[in-house]
Order: sequence, then C-alpha cells, then structure tokens
Amino acid sequence: MNRQFMKITGKCATRCTRSGFRALVLAGLLTTMPIATVNAETLAISCGAVGQELQLCKEGTEAWAKRTGNRVKVISTPNSATERLALYQQILAAESPEIDVFQIDIIWPGILAGHFIDLSKHIDPTAIAEHFPAIVANNTVKGKLVALPWFTDAGVLYYRQDLLDKYQATPPQTWAELTTTAQRIQDGERAAGNPRLQGFVFQAKGYEGLTCNGLEWVDSFGGGTLVGAKGEASINNPQAVAALKMAAGWIGTIAPQGVLNYDEEESRGVFQSGNAVFMRNWPYAWALANAADSPVRGKVGVIALPSGGAAGKHSGVLGGWNLAVSRYSAHPELAADLVRYLTSRAEQKRRAIAGSYNPTMPALYKDAEVLAATPFFGQLYPTFANAVARPSRQTGAKYNRVSAEFYNTVRDVLSGQRPAGEALAGLQRRLDRLSRGGRW
Ligand code: GLC
Repeated sequence: MNRQFMKITGKCATRCTRSGFRALVLAGLLTTMPIATVNAETLAISCGAVGQELQLCKEGTEAWAKRTGNRVKVISTPNSATERLALYQQILAAESPEIDVFQIDIIWPGILAGHFIDLSKHIDPTAIAEHFPAIVANNTVKGKLVALPWFTDAGVLYYRQDLLDKYQATPPQTWAELTTTAQRIQDGERAAGNPRLQGFVFQAKGYEGLTCNGLEWVDSFGGGTLVGAKGEASINNPQAVAALKMAAGWIGTIAPQGVLNYDEEESRGVFQSGNAVFMRNWPYAWALANAADSPVRGKVGVIALPSGGAAGKHSGVLGGWNLAVSRYSAHPELAADLVRYLTSRAEQKRRAIAGSYNPTMPALYKDAEVLAATPFFGQLYPTFANAVARPSRQTGAKYNRVSAEFYNTVRDVLSGQRPAGEALAGLQRRLDRLSRGGRW
C-alpha cells in the first residue's frame, strides 16, 4: 500500500491532526510573522500516477502555488482504480482533513458524493459550461456538482504500423480480423527469431480495468452494458456469451497467460518495448509511445476498438477523472480555486499536448496545437463522443459491487475456470438479487 496513504488511513482513527504548520497557526504562534507567510496555506491533492499523471499534476499544482503564494502537497495513489477507491473510502469515512482535493474516477460520484462540497457554489457557471455537458451531468448528484471534469478518455486500439506493413495487413475493423492478423504476425515474427512478440495485450487483472475491457467486448457484440437504462441486469444474453468466448480464446494464443495480471501500465510496458502487435489502452499511452526514448516511436497507429462482427459496433468504454473538494477540508474555498485552475482550458491544453490526456472541453478538440500533438483526438472524436458508459448512474452507491461481480466473472471465463454461458447466467442471478430485480 502507498506509504503516504498508510500514514493517513492508519493513524486517522486515533490521531487526525493537522500538519505541524497548521498546528502552529492554530496555536497563534505565527501571528507575529509577515501577513504573506501567515496567509500561505498548504493544500494536499491526491493524484493518479498512471503514465505521466503524477509529473503533470506536480507541474500544474506548482504553477498554482506560485501564482497564489500557497503550497501544494501531491500525494500519489495506486494505479488500480479499484485499490484507489478502497483507500479513498477509508480516508473519507474517517472524515480526515488531510487531503483537500481528490482525483476521482468518472464512475465514483454516486459512491462518494456525500463526502464532497458542491462546486457549483464556488465555480463560475461560465467555467462549468466550458466542459462537455454529459460529464458535468455525470458529476452532478442530487443537484450537487460533486467534481469538475479534468480529463476524459475512452478505450482505443493501438497497432504497430511497421509490422502491419511488413505483413501487408490493414488495421482490424472486427475482433475476428484482429485475432487472425495478430496470430499471423505473432507466428511470423516468432519464426523469424522474436520469441517475445505477443499478438494482443490488454487489461485482464481482477480490477476496474477488466470491467472496462469486458464491457467493450460485450457491447461491441451488441450484448449491452451489464445493466440496462431502467436498472435491469442484462448480462445473460447470447451476444455477451459469444464475446467472452472469443476473449477466452485469446489467452495463451495471441495474448500471454500473463495478461491475466496486466493493468494499463503493464500492457503499455510490453507494447512500448516493441513486443506486441496490438494493445487496448487509453489515450495517455500515445504520448509515451512517441516519446524520444520509446522503441516504437513513430511506428504506432490508433483506431477505434474493433466491432463484434457484422451486427456489432465499435465500443470504447468511457473513462476519465475529475477533481473534487473534500467536505472535511479546512480550506474549501482555496481548494476550489486549485480545482478551478487545474481544470481550466490552459491547463487542460498543456496536459493534452504533453501527455495526451483528453480535454473535457469541446473547444480544445478544435485547437491546432492539441491536434498536432495527438491527431487521433480529432480523427476519433466520434469514439470519444459516443463512448459507452459503465452502469454507475443506474447502480449508484452499489456500482463498485456490480463491477467486482462482473470482472471476477470475466476473469473466471478468461482463465478457463467456467464456461461463458454458465458464468454469465450466475452473474445475472447475483445482479438480480443485488438490485432486488432492478431497483438499485
Ligand atoms: C482509466 C479510466 C478510468 C477507469 C480506469 C480503469 O483510468 O480513465 O475511468 O476506471 O482506467 O482501469
């Protein structure tokens, strides 16, 4: 577990003290110091560390600190969204004031809403209106704006253009095509002396990332997104079964057994070191794949994820992260100002260019410098605009449980422990029970 977090979660039950600096302020010991120093506060923000997230977060917060004369402590969090949520829940349940600003996943407003302030009371409506209305709506729970959008994303397919050229193959439009092309190139390259080459890497560890991958397979076959718009569990259907059977067939053929332990960064490690033909990942991997020291620099293309056959469609799951201010913060106004700065157009533009983190403002998808750095932001705009939402709105506070039921079931199928049909019938029963027949 992250050491900074252990400190916070482990000690909060007994000793939720402020930092030493704040203790001095409270004790009035700094009252004789110059005004500027007395007013300077230290905020803490939890930031992700996937790809360049931590670095960009540090640069952004330092810029705000310099402008305002305050300080910001950046606390890095585990890469797994599932582990990150568990830690946040501990910290917030303890009503700890130690973290002022939380980076929260697009699927968490319904789970964590009660712990955050209403940002619509602190942020100018014109600044809120710059963001995609669908994300603002997603982040609004019972009329309260729980978080401001920071970056969005959707699952996409990366491919090695040089290898496709060598084998006279085209980027795959369907999963069946991907399977055939991946196998052909993997076989060819292994025979030519590269035993490490994998056909396809993705995220199949037991965590939220597998929920995203699994839903993309199922939805691309026309099998829905686990829970329907009215709240009914919808996973026990033939298209979903076909999708999972297909994915199970990849393990040990075009994908290594090890993919069952891969998260985003592990997949990227294999792909970026030149050892995979295809990779499913989020847009952030683009900037790193094309970094000066990347072995695959200039050799990579990005397209929408394949469709599940003639009747299927291209489905990329909607992801993304938002910034929320803790209700337990001692400086909510200042923390809201930090959120305002980090989610601003200029800062989102900087992050889009440096790290290919998708902006949450339509205007930036027309910005020439953003599009030059990451051309697929423009080419794949429909993929981002039509990204498939996980059922977090319908299932509210129970979303995490639903997701865990799903990724554990998918993992059982991928690892060959249970056939897809039986596994999905069981999952449907559990979801029906959990939702009391669709009434979450
Ligand atoms: C990405 C997405 C996030 C998702 C996570 C799963 O970080 O932005 O929404 O939950 O991946 O691994």
